[in-house]
Amino acid sequence: MKKFFITTPIYYINDIPHIGHTCTTVAADIVARTHKIIGDEVFFLTGTDEHGQKVAESAAKENLSPQDYCDQISPRFEEAWKKLNIDFDYFIRTTDKRHEKVVQELLQKIYDNGDAYKDKYEGWYCVGCEKFLTETEMVDGHCPLHPPEKTVKKSEENWFFRLSKYVPKLIELIENDETNYIAPVGKKSEILAKLKAGVRDISLSRENVEWGISVPWDTKQTVYVWFDALINYYSATQFIEGKKDFWPANLHLIGKEILWFHTVIWQAMLLSAGFEVDKLPKQVYIHSFYMIDGQKMSKSLGNVISPQQLIDLFGVDGSRYLIARSFPTDNDSDVGIERFKEKYNADLANNLGNLVSRVTKLAEGVTTKPFFNPSFDRAGSLDEDFVKLINNCRFDEAVGLVFKKYIDSSNTKLNEVTPWKLDNNDPKRIEVLGYCIKNILSASLHLKPIMPEVTQKIENCFENKVKTLDAPLFPRIK
Ligand code: MSP
Repeated sequence: MKKFFITTPIYYINDIPHIGHTCTTVAADIVARTHKIIGDEVFFLTGTDEHGQKVAESAAKENLSPQDYCDQISPRFEEAWKKLNIDFDYFIRTTDKRHEKVVQELLQKIYDNGDAYKDKYEGWYCVGCEKFLTETEMVDGHCPLHPPEKTVKKSEENWFFRLSKYVPKLIELIENDETNYIAPVGKKSEILAKLKAGVRDISLSRENVEWGISVPWDTKQTVYVWFDALINYYSATQFIEGKKDFWPANLHLIGKEILWFHTVIWQAMLLSAGFEVDKLPKQVYIHSFYMIDGQKMSKSLGNVISPQQLIDLFGVDGSRYLIARSFPTDNDSDVGIERFKEKYNADLANNLGNLVSRVTKLAEGVTTKPFFNPSFDRAGSLDEDFVKLINNCRFDEAVGLVFKKYIDSSNTKLNEVTPWKLDNNDPKRIEVLGYCIKNILSASLHLKPIMPEVTQKIENCFENKVKTLDAPLFPRIK
C-alpha cells in the first residue's frame, strides 16, 4: 500500500470557521477519500494554530486566558469539519505539549547548525497575518489584507533565521524540479522571481509575545508563530503513534496568501534542521480565493458565509458538491448563495437526483447483479483522467467529466429510447435500463469522495433488486 499524507493549513482560532476554511478542508477531504478508494494508506491532518499575538489579543478581549480561549474556540473547527463529514485522521492543536516539544527540538537543530543569530528588528508587523512586512508589501502604509490598525511598528531584539543562506539551494531545487513541487505550475515562476530578487533573513522569535513556545536556548523569547505553526505538519508524524513513516508529506494544500511560508520558509527550515532533499514535502498546492458576490469576504462587510449556513440550505453532500464545483484553482472564484442555489437545482435536483428517481421507478424490482462492475468498490475502477484531475484539484472538471460520461449519456439514451412507452419485457427497455443502472453506479463510485452519504443512498437503491427512493435525493430549493 502506498502511503499518502495530506494536510490543510491549521486555522487561526481568532476567527470561526467560514466558507474559505471550508473550501480547503473539503478539497483535502476529497483528495484524501479518492486516495483511499484507489487503495492508498492515507493520513489526513488538519487542526488549529493557537499561539501568537493575534490569539492573545482576542483572548484578552474576551477576558479569558489564551489557553481557555483556545480550548473554547478550537472545537468549533473540529465540530464544523465533523458536520461536513470530513474524514480527517487527526486534529492537531499547536498548544499540544507534544507538538511544542518537537518545535523546540527542531529549532534547537537550526540553532546548533549556526542558522540563528540575535539582531534588532525594526519595521512593520501585520498582526492579522502574523507577519513582518516589507515596504513593498504595504499598500498606503499598511497590509492590504487587513484593516490599517493591524499594521504596527515594531522595534525589538529577535533571533533571526539565516533564510538567505538557503536561497541558492532553493532556487536550484525549484528550477530543477520536475515533480511539480509547487503546483499549479504558474506559481513556480512567481516564487523564483521573488527568490532571485533578493531575500532577507527573518525573525524566528518574538520578544514581547508571551503566548508562544519558549525559544529553547533563550527562554525570554517565544518562537515566532509561523515557525511553530509550520512544524505541525512534521510534529504530528512524530508524536502520533505509527505515523513516522508518513513523513515527508505528499501534499500541503493551502491558500495563495501563505505560499511564501510554505514553499520557501518551511523548506529552508527543514534544510537547516538537517533534512535531506528527499525528506522535504513532495508538493505544495496553492489555490486561489473565494470572493462573495464579487467582494472580498469580511466581517465588516457582513458577507461571511459559514459552513452551517450551507448545510442548512443544501445538506452536507450538497454543500460539499457546491464547494467542489466552485473550487478556486488558478483564479479567484465568485460564489454566493443565489449562485449556489442555481447550481444545486440544475445539477443535483434536476439532473442527478431526477435521473436516479426516474430509473429506479422504471426498473423497480429488477435484479441488479448483472449490472454490477465486479471491481465495484476497488482500485482500478476509477477513471484515470478523473483521478488525475482530482490530484490537481480540478474538481469542477472532474465532476464535469463524470456528469458527461455517465449522467448526460443516460439521460440522452432514456429520451431516445423512451422505455416508459415500452412493454416491461421489451429487450430495448431492459437494455436501456441496464445501461442507466451501470452508469448511475459508476457515477456514484466517482462521486463518493465528494458526496459520501448520497452516493451510499444511491447504491442502496441498487442492492440485489432495484428499489425506489423514499424521498428525493436533492429536494429542489426555491
Ligand atoms: N494559521 C495560518 C496557517 C498556518 S499553516 C502552517 C493561517 N490561518 S487562517 O485561518 O488564516 O487560514 C488561512 C487559510 O484558509 C488559507 O490559506 C485558505 O486555505 C483558507 N482561506 C481563508 N480564506 C479564504 C477564502 N476567501 N477563499 C478560499 N480559502 C481561503 O493562515
